[in-house]
Amino acid sequence: MRAPRKKPTKTIVPVLAVRLNGFFSLQIQADGGIAAAVDDYSVNLGYYSAVAMDRAQDLTTGLQLAFLAGKSTVAREVDVLVRRLARHGLLEYRLFSPRGAQDLVVIEPQIPEYWPQRARLGNADTVVLSRFAYLRRRGNDMVLESPRAGALFRICDPAIAATLAELSRPQKISGLRRHTGRFNLELLELLLDSQILFKLDAKMGDGLRVNEGDGNLVLWDFHDLVFHTRSTEGRQANPLGGAFAYADVVSPLPAVRPSWSGKKIDLETFSTREPTSAFAKLLHERHSTRDFDDEHPITLAELARFLDMTARVLSQWTSGGDFGAGPELAYSTRPYPAAGSAYELELYLTVANCEGLAQGLYHYDAGGHALVAIGDASAQHLQALSAAAQFAMDAAGPAQVLITIAARFGRISWKYSAIAYSLILKDVGTLIQTFYLAATDMGLGGCAIGSINIDLFAKMTGIEFHVEGPVGQFALGRGRKAEAPG
Ligand SMILES: Cc1cc2nc3c(=O)[nH]c(=O)nc-3n(C[C@H](O)[C@H](O)[C@H](O)COP(=O)(O)O)c2cc1C
Repeated sequence: MRAPRKKPTKTIVPVLAVRLNGFFSLQIQADGGIAAAVDDYSVNLGYYSAVAMDRAQDLTTGLQLAFLAGKSTVAREVDVLVRRLARHGLLEYRLFSPRGAQDLVVIEPQIPEYWPQRARLGNADTVVLSRFAYLRRRGNDMVLESPRAGALFRICDPAIAATLAELSRPQKISGLRRHTGRFNLELLELLLDSQILFKLDAKMGDGLRVNEGDGNLVLWDFHDLVFHTRSTEGRQANPLGGAFAYADVVSPLPAVRPSWSGKKIDLETFSTREPTSAFAKLLHERHSTRDFDDEHPITLAELARFLDMTARVLSQWTSGGDFGAGPELAYSTRPYPAAGSAYELELYLTVANCEGLAQGLYHYDAGGHALVAIGDASAQHLQALSAAAQFAMDAAGPAQVLITIAARFGRISWKYSAIAYSLILKDVGTLIQTFYLAATDMGLGGCAIGSINIDLFAKMTGIEFHVEGPVGQFALGRGRKAEAPG
């Protein structure tokens, strides 16, 4: 007896729709304009025709992206509104099956420019998961993330997690199509666009570390790239900085650790309150300065002396790794200590007010002790960087010179595994204390800044975020007046 023929199953193509991200709602203002609002906060989005505003109501549940691609006047109007909402980070995208209308995946943008795109895949293509992709529990959701991706994917259908598990090894699309229960080409194409998947060609081997990205990416360990992107601004949408997120749940730790109960050896008898040397005095006098005297700005000569004292290359030499064993490598010596003498840190100066030096972005060439203008940086980006630092300091005006400390990541990760990024941050600490002491010694003022936008810096310099990027900042200038410490 012949086995009954398997009925061909009709492929159901999932639909991609855009909606407000759940925190905001659209409101019509008294002047007829439209705004996205939450509590007392609202974002004005401009004026639209009554038909467009009516259609925009669909943004509460989901407006199909296919509609926005339409040529009608109303489609174009709504498209303008949706792009505005996207730039303010107020949207998410749902991929759902038209049959059940249940979400398969919800895409949460992590960068303002994110717009869901499908990178086309054919049956002959082979794809594999990026080694930077990870699934984790967030609240009661399962989320798929990657420091390389411009968006996070909330996985609503467990079958997708099973497909992702299969993608831990290279898979041909034709094979996936045959074997995977609920094959979802649209999702794979969205994941490919977000670099959560990557395509392998026949010459690229088995999709392991060396097959993904350029040499700079190969050198990154997974946890280091996650740490870099999740502890800075620009490539993530999580709350960041002094948010006191769990103040209601956990009490603060004391400012000074309570003593151990063992025998105490009193050191006061060996100490005096007054500094006993010029260096001890310098340490006592050091403090953060956040407001600068723009009538008497720092001069180019002072800036040159500051950089000379703190950061210039003093000598260069070649040796084996750890100065003996290992491959031969070129090294330099500079005024501050650095892990493995790698000196991966670079200084980029945003100059707002320095006598004798034009406003703009400069790189400090530490070998040649020179400032090199980076002409391509847009005034808007420079202003944004400067304003963010001013905001972080709660200062009245911009820093006269804002020093962005960037790391050439590969310089240190070429040698160190697992600890590369932590060494970079430690190096930033040694450099920042050097800056503080030099500024104090010169009668200048400065302040370290804890948060920085890595994507903005990438736009300013044109360097990809994983190649060379900011890891610290220091505002420098002539202080307006002596500030109280703290
Ligand atoms: C790593 C680091 C990050 C900092 N970030 C900021 C910041 O973002 N904004 C700010 O106003 N001060 C910042 N500061 C300065 C500290 O607030 C300051 O050092 C501290 O309050 C002690 O005060 P003092 O430096 O005047 O002694 C930072 C300091 C360090 C070392």
